[in-house]
Amino acid sequence: MRFGAPAEHYDRFMGRYTPALASGLADAAGVRSGQRVLDVGCGPGGLTRELVERVGAANVAAVDPAPQFVAACGERNPGADVRVGAAERLPWADGRFDAALSCLVVGFMRDAGLGIREMARVTRPGGAVAACMWDVADGMTMLRTFWAAVGRVDSSAQGERRMAGTEKGDIASRFERAGLADVVDGVLTSHADYRDFDDFWEPFTLGVGPAGQYVAALPAEGRARVREACREALPTGPFTLDARAWYARGTVSS
Ligand SMILES: C[S@@+](CC[C@H](N)C(=O)[O-])C[C@H]1O[C@@H](n2cnc3c(N)ncnc32)[C@H](O)[C@@H]1O
Repeated sequence: MRFGAPAEHYDRFMGRYTPALASGLADAAGVRSGQRVLDVGCGPGGLTRELVERVGAANVAAVDPAPQFVAACGERNPGADVRVGAAERLPWADGRFDAALSCLVVGFMRDAGLGIREMARVTRPGGAVAACMWDVADGMTMLRTFWAAVGRVDSSAQGERRMAGTEKGDIASRFERAGLADVVDGVLTSHADYRDFDDFWEPFTLGVGPAGQYVAALPAEGRARVREACREALPTGPFTLDARAWYARGTVSS
């Protein structure tokens, strides 16, 4: 899927969940000082920043097909090697990294199996590959609330539940099929604070990701009905929404 929105719009929509998620994924991958690491599908660079803090910019590479995200990621992480490209054809040599990570990207890859195999290819034998995707159906409250509201208005809407990686155990099975060893999986958590309902709703109108693109395609009346259904489901005043993601980690075989 193509992400054409500016980095600042992504920040307001999904980037607010990234810091805690990125830290959890980097822990799961065992990222530590002295390693060379890759962020696949870096977006505007939330996970990249976490990696830079752990290993230094000179040891971090990142890649994303969206040029405006690559530009933002590079500006936010000076010294990191940030490139335009796709997971399915990574522009690095075999075994170049100690770990390759991917945060909220597996479901957007054109060919997730190939993307994961590419992550393994550029990681040295014994190194780690790790990825996470939201538990869209249940644990990611923002998306669950939105798609439930959509379901009340448009029963034919597909939502994001069929995307790769969004079901328990799915990333781990994909890792095993890609030949990774010692695969473990589990959950990562994050949260976001909202000033009020408008702070929740307005980012959905910015065209970011499947939810934003769904809203952008709605006629004004449908949009108003989805907005109202979301409003009914959420508290008035400030609130915090929890988010849960599935992750898996595997080791590149020798
Ligand atoms: C939900 S965003 C996640 C961005 C970032 N990793 C984060 O956690 O904030 C999904 C990202 O996947 C990127 N993407 C889409 N298709 C991709 C592919 N085939 N290979 C690599 N990245 C891809 C998009 O451009 C977008 O930046």
